Parts: sequence; structure tokens; C-alpha cells
Amino acid sequence: MKKEVVVIGLGYVGLPSVVNHVKNGHQVTGFDIDQRKIDLLNQGVSDIDTVSDKTIMTLKEKGVIFTADEKMIKNKDVYIIDVPTPIDSNKIPDLSYVEAAVKLIIDKVKIGSLIVLESTTYPGTTEEYLVEKFSSLGYKIGTDLFIAYSPERIDPGNTQSLKAKIPRIVAGFSEGCLIQAQAFFGSHVTAVTDLKTAELAKIYENTFRLVNIALADELQKISDDLRIDVGEVLAAAATKPFGFMKFTPNLGIGGHCIPVDPYYLTWLMETRGIKTPLIDTAGKINDSMLDYYLQQINDYVTGNKQTMTSMTIAVLGVTYKKNVADIRMSSVMTLIEKLKTMGAHVVAFDDVLHNYHHKSQEEIRSLAGKYQQLKTFDLVIYAVDHDSYENKKPMIIENSQLFYDLTTA
Ligand SMILES: NC(=O)c1ccc[n+]([C@@H]2O[C@H](COP(=O)([O-])OP(=O)(O)OC[C@H]3O[C@@H](n4cnc5c(N)ncnc54)[C@H](O)[C@@H]3O)[C@@H](O)[C@H]2O)c1
Repeated sequence: MKKEVVVIGLGYVGLPSVVNHVKNGHQVTGFDIDQRKIDLLNQGVSDIDTVSDKTIMTLKEKGVIFTADEKMIKNKDVYIIDVPTPIDSNKIPDLSYVEAAVKLIIDKVKIGSLIVLESTTYPGTTEEYLVEKFSSLGYKIGTDLFIAYSPERIDPGNTQSLKAKIPRIVAGFSEGCLIQAQAFFGSHVTAVTDLKTAELAKIYENTFRLVNIALADELQKISDDLRIDVGEVLAAAATKPFGFMKFTPNLGIGGHCIPVDPYYLTWLMETRGIKTPLIDTAGKINDSMLDYYLQQINDYVTGNKQTMTSMTIAVLGVTYKKNVADIRMSSVMTLIEKLKTMGAHVVAFDDVLHNYHHKSQEEIRSLAGKYQQLKTFDLVIYAVDHDSYENKKPMIIENSQLFYDLTTA
């Protein structure tokens, strides 16, 4: 049945969520507190590289409203919350965005509204920040209002994940809430017993990745010491058709999920006096990789009778992930800063980021297929294997005086 849906937070999760709800035949309003983003969307411009400008135009033709005006989101059937859930500098969860989103809709919901939190967070959040808040205002949850948690599993840059319909986990505060949420999300939904189970399942998915990437990082160190090619080891292990999943070593995991979400869990367990040594160690290994690779690069340079001080270095690829125009929490950016403090003159190239931002990122240049310009640098660090670089890798190597590959695995 066609519903009036509000998506709160139009970022990497919220904007694709608008697209999906429109596909499912709903009337959608996209709300964001960022007026600049709303103005761009209303001009038909997306600031999320996974949603094209053309798609935004189609959404608008289909009646989608993009707004920062609170009055436009009153009395709707469904409220989907897709706001950030970051950590602070001490790796403590910051739920202020969720709190603000709940505050925003408190006087907007109507009797019968379904509210779904999709942001990643620790077990207990939906109850603490939504159920308790609305209950304290006199709403009977499961009768007057329906509250559910359904984590988003989108994987930016992973075309497989965009093509396939990703199965979804859903939990409701009560049976009634679950029935409403299931009816809204339709097929590809796995219902779980309660809100905390769904919240923990999502955090576990990303913690699983952190722990396994940290293991691959350790394999990198082991292989380097034994003078074995880590890429070949991983490729060989990956020929086993069962019981093995390939993860690759990393300069330091970037983005806003894997370097963040596990700390929601470790923080929660610490407040409960429970230790999480495996996750803690995985986090520390991840944090150690940048300095490890920096040392490896330095050894390579000195092994070639050069010194990092006053060297000219081209870094190819700066985004946190291959084929994604997102620089947030990118370890390559930290690497560049460290190289500069060592006295190197660094020029960053990223054609994916550059093309996407329509040349507005002056400090990050485009290689634009002119591989010969790499000859002017003492060293080329190949940091992100965007398809456009990977396809021309032999030419990049051919034009490099010294070439250090951070993507070999
Ligand atoms: N990015 C991913 O790949 C991904 C994947 C799965 C889950 N998640 C989770 O989804 C959530 C959202 O992540 P994201 O990557 O979309 O974040 P994002 O930073 O890309 O977008 C969040 C948007 O929310 C807006 N916002 C902040 N406070 C608001 C408020 N009070 N009202 C309305 N809008 C508000 C911001 O302006 C921004 O546009 C997080 O919990 C994240 O962990 C992200």
C-alpha cells in the first residue's frame, strides 16, 4: 500500500533509501538539516557519488520533495532515520544525531506512524532513544506508534551489492511493530526476536570485517618478514571453496563503518564490565598499519639509496576505498600528511574524486591519462586501485622512477 514516507538524513544511506522507497511506490519526502545539500538536490545535483544527478531528476519528476523545512514532514505514515552515528576522538559513541532526529519528529508523528531507525548503533539504542522517549510522552508503542530497527547494509563502491537486492534484518519493539515494519519493507526481510538482536547483528557484521582485516594485516607483517608475497598467499588460500573468506591487508581501514562501529560495541561492553580483547587488538593492529607501511616505504627508498627528505612523491588514489569518491577517514590522507612532515614534497592524484567533484578539489589532482608526468617524481606510491588506475597499471609502473604498491594483496 502506498505510504507517505519521510527519510531523515540524506547521506550515503538516506539518499539511496529514498530511491528504494520511490521504487516501492511510496510518496517520499527527503529531509536533511544541511540546507546546502537540499539546495543542490533541488537543482538536480547529487552530492553522493552512488546516486547520479539523473536519478535525482527522476525522483523529482516522481514527486519526491527534498526539504530542510520541518513543517513539511508532519503527519506522515513512516519515518526512517538515517543520521550519522560517529565516535568522538576518544572512540566514544556520539548519539547526538539520533537524539536530534528523534527530537525533530516528536511533534510530527501521528497516531499509527511507523518509525524505523536504520543507523548503525549499539544494542539498546532504539529502546533507549526512541521507545523510552515516545513512551514518556504517553504513546503506547505497538498500538499508537510503531517502532522498529532495521540496519542498512549498503556497500558503496561494491557494484555487486547495488545490483542484488540486499536481504534486510528487521526487529520491532513488539509483535505489532514488527508486523508493521515487515509489511513496509516487504520481501528480502529476516525478522529477528527483538531490537537488540538486530542492533548486535549489524555491529557484529562490521566487527567481523575489522577482525579479519586485522588478521590479514598480521599476515602482511608475517609474509614481509619471511619474504613471501602476501598477495600470492591470499590468492592461494582463496582457492579453497569452503571455510575461507579472503580479506586483504590495509593501510588502515577508512570510511565511516568499520573504523567506527566496533567501538560502539566495545564501549557498551566496557560500561558493563565485560572485556573484548579480540576486538580491541584488531583495532590496535588496524591503527598500527599506517606506521608499518610508512616504515616499509622508507626502507624501500633508502634501499634505493635515496632519502624521503626533500623527495618528490606522487600518491595515486586518496579515497578510503576503491572506486568511491569519499575521502572521509581515509588513511591515505593521513599517510600524505606524515610524508609531508618527513620533508617530502607530495602531490596527490585521484581521478575518481576529481571527476566526481567537478575539479573543485584543487589539492587533489587528476592524472587524466597523462602518465608521463609521473616521470617527474622520485617515487610513485600506488595507494588505491581504482579501476581506471588498475587498467593502466603497467603504464603507471613504466613511467615511475620508483614505484611502491600498497595494494598488492
Ligand atoms: N555509509 C555507509 O556505507 C553505511 C552503510 C551502512 C550503514 N551506515 C550507517 O548509516 C548511518 C548514516 O550513515 P551515512 O553514511 O549515510 O552518513 P552521512 O554522513 O553520509 O549522511 C548523514 C546525513 O544526515 C544528515 N543529518 C545529520 N543530522 C540530522 C538531523 N538531525 N536531521 C536530518 N538530517 C540530519 C547530515 O546532514 C547528512 O546529510 C550511520 O549510522 C552509518 O553508520 C552507513
